[in-house]
Amino acid sequence: MADPRPIGVFDSGVGGLTVARAIIDLLPGEPLLYVGDTARFPYGPKPLTEIKRYALEIATYLVDRGVKLLVVACNSIEVAAIEEVGVAAGVPVVGVIDPGVRAAVRVTHNRRIGMIGTEATVKSGAYDRAVARTGKDVELFCEACPVFVEFVERGDTSSPQLFAAAREYLAPLQAANVDTLILGCTHYPMLSGLIARVMGRDVALISSADETAKDVYEELVAGDLRASGAPTHEFVCTGDPATFRTVAERFLSPSIPEVLSVVPGGFRAAVGER
Ligand code: DGL
Repeated sequence: MADPRPIGVFDSGVGGLTVARAIIDLLPGEPLLYVGDTARFPYGPKPLTEIKRYALEIATYLVDRGVKLLVVACNSIEVAAIEEVGVAAGVPVVGVIDPGVRAAVRVTHNRRIGMIGTEATVKSGAYDRAVARTGKDVELFCEACPVFVEFVERGDTSSPQLFAAAREYLAPLQAANVDTLILGCTHYPMLSGLIARVMGRDVALISSADETAKDVYEELVAGDLRASGAPTHEFVCTGDPATFRTVAERFLSPSIPEVLSVVPGGFRAAVGER
């Protein structure tokens, strides 16, 4: 029996859209209900108790809206409150930290892994614990990159100022000779071009999004919760909806306004028609 209830996905802003994108790619029949707490963004510099309060508020809203599963699409929320969210939710909860670490330990050759995230995530030590849980003999080097999220939230993924910040933040990880870098904040995959340019193309960048989507898939199958059909996704934010929409459309998927039909062999004529 198909379960048409939506999957709840939440973040402090647009970062969780990287996870939403991966879920949509893997599970195109599933409706998503996304919350970005843009009015209270950023979470990274805030105390964990404050992040926890916001997380529980949003999780309760999503459960009251009838979601069948919750995706904590934000590392900072996960380190502050994943257990409490799990207890409060009463539906399966999927996070992003273990999936990212799993992918990184699979990929590294020299067993030196870097992780970049918000101050809250780095300070919590959650990634060190997640690496220890894998039982693999790898070394982890963590750096906080506080201003990255501000740039992403403004839709800036390539300005000279951002490059300058990236060079500074990433220098210790280059010096540590990591061959794999976990993007430990869901906003960062939107900066993968820039990060790859600074780190060099030989360093594997790990976004937890795809691996998290696979966990979502597993949970849905295990709980017989799969939906089917053409879903409608819903987006909620606490800040200005127009700003959210502009950035979200750019990052999640630009809508395709028109598709031109050209018959095979008819390309030259089609140019004239335009
Ligand atoms: N996207 C969030 C994360 O994964 C953090 C952004 C913020 O600082 O609010 O940690």
